[in-house]
Amino acid sequence: MTSAKAVKTLKEAIETRRSTPSFDSSPLPPEDLEQILHAGLQAPSGYNLQPWRFVVVQSPEHRKRLRAASFNQAKIEEASVVIVACGDMDGWRQDLHTILEMGRAGGMPESYAAQAQTSVSNYMSSFTPDQMKLWLTKQVTLAFTQMLLMAEVLGYDTAPMEGFEQEKVHETLRLPLSYWVVAMLCVGHLKGADKFDGGRFAMQHTVFGEEYGKALRLK
Ligand SMILES: Cc1cc2nc3c(=O)[nH]c(=O)nc-3n(C[C@H](O)[C@H](O)[C@H](O)COP(=O)(O)O)c2cc1C
Repeated sequence: MTSAKAVKTLKEAIETRRSTPSFDSSPLPPEDLEQILHAGLQAPSGYNLQPWRFVVVQSPEHRKRLRAASFNQAKIEEASVVIVACGDMDGWRQDLHTILEMGRAGGMPESYAAQAQTSVSNYMSSFTPDQMKLWLTKQVTLAFTQMLLMAEVLGYDTAPMEGFEQEKVHETLRLPLSYWVVAMLCVGHLKGADKFDGGRFAMQHTVFGEEYGKALRLK
């Protein structure tokens, strides 16, 4: 993989990121796209099952149709690239064997691998469809976030999106029935003024120490 140059530290990217309201449609070099995708694929996942699947939408025709499936949000056509983040409900069935083989190659103890073959199958096949979607959403969102942050570190602007119609996206991208669309990530360069800063709650509103309702002591 050719390594694209970071222009911001992770801290700067986190502090300065906004959900981009409008993009200038400039092209995104393939080496940068590769690095953004690669960052997502390094994310942790339950049992390392990596159930995420990403459809990278770049062509004007596909973006036009995707926009129609996304409540006509203009960013879909303006962004350099739209990454449609999905989870595959059946992925683990085909992938478990390979994952355990990769694990063994990387030093996974044989006793763990032998046990995982059964215990992971039992665990995954116990899910209801709703539980599966919830599980997939957790896993896919982590990879999605790593892509978003890598794009920001490389100097791009990003916009996460959940405003789309599941069935229409399925139809547009010809997704298998086992796919669950989690979110879309627009990547490109900001056009015009950036979005206002919506602000964040003070830490005591959302973070507790030791148990619910107790203030966290940092000093
Ligand atoms: C999962 C997710 C889905 C979102 N979906 C949309 C969307 O469909 N359209 C949109 O304009 N903004 C969308 N947003 C952006 C949020 O409105 C934005 O993150 C929030 O207002 C905070 O602003 P900031 O990201 O600039 O800090 C989404 C954000 C997240 C995290």
